[in-house]
Amino acid sequence: TQAPVMIQGPMPIEAEHFAGLLDNVRKEQSGHATFYLGTLNGYPIVVAQTGKGLENTAAATAIGIERYRPRAIINQGTSGGHDPSLKVGDIVIGKRSVNASNFKTPFRAKGEGSAPLEWLPMDLLASSGSAGEGDSAKDAERIRYYLGSPELIAAAHAVKHEYERGKVVEGTIASGNFWNNEVDRIAWLHNQFGTSTEEMETAAAAQVAEAYGVPFVGIRVLSNNLTNGGHYDPTTATDCQAFVQAMLLHYLAGE
Ligand code: 5AD
Repeated sequence: TQAPVMIQGPMPIEAEHFAGLLDNVRKEQSGHATFYLGTLNGYPIVVAQTGKGLENTAAATAIGIERYRPRAIINQGTSGGHDPSLKVGDIVIGKRSVNASNFKTPFRAKGEGSAPLEWLPMDLLASSGSAGEGDSAKDAERIRYYLGSPELIAAAHAVKHEYERGKVVEGTIASGNFWNNEVDRIAWLHNQFGTSTEEMETAAAAQVAEAYGVPFVGIRVLSNNLTNGGHYDPTTATDCQAFVQAMLLHYLAGE
């Protein structure tokens, strides 16, 4: 039998629409993850409702790869804009993703406070040694990006003209167990690391998919954008899933 494509979404509003598109659905639960196994236009698909955040996503990605051996993974859902030119409803194709909660703080003595805009990026995959102190610590003071699969990115571009809710652009998806509401911090992330939008999952899934050699891309709709007054709109989650459906069918037809 053919290997499935795995479509991940963190919350019910980001997974249930897609799960509802499948035929012959079987449901499996593992930890915080729910997997819907079925077919779309005859193609085998696994929709994974991963739960929110880096840990749930990493676990669901590893379990999903080990159990279902997907040929590709698309992580999709809502996000908060870092780029003032992006509006609520616009979609970011994840050319790359980055864990925006991996930082090392430069030393400050007791009473010297905390200065988050001086924090250094920290790459936990730079070496097998300590990222904090010792011989390998300096090597870890760098940013790590996970690159989206060119084939999956191309499939997203191929159907972007069909998307009516907003525009579709390539960008950098920032992930961390953070909801940033400090406009200066958002600008710092945008300027330092080129982030387009933030959420809590893509980089965790990308890291695990890369470790297993599974083609991966993140697709994120903006459900909010503090940098330009874009108010939270959860209906964007359904639009994102509809876009991913079109992109997926294009990808599968081209194989
Ligand atoms: N910051 C962080 N996470 C966000 N999400 C949507 N907007 C934001 C934002 N501005 C997503 C996360 C998580 C849930 C809280 O919503 O990916 O799953």
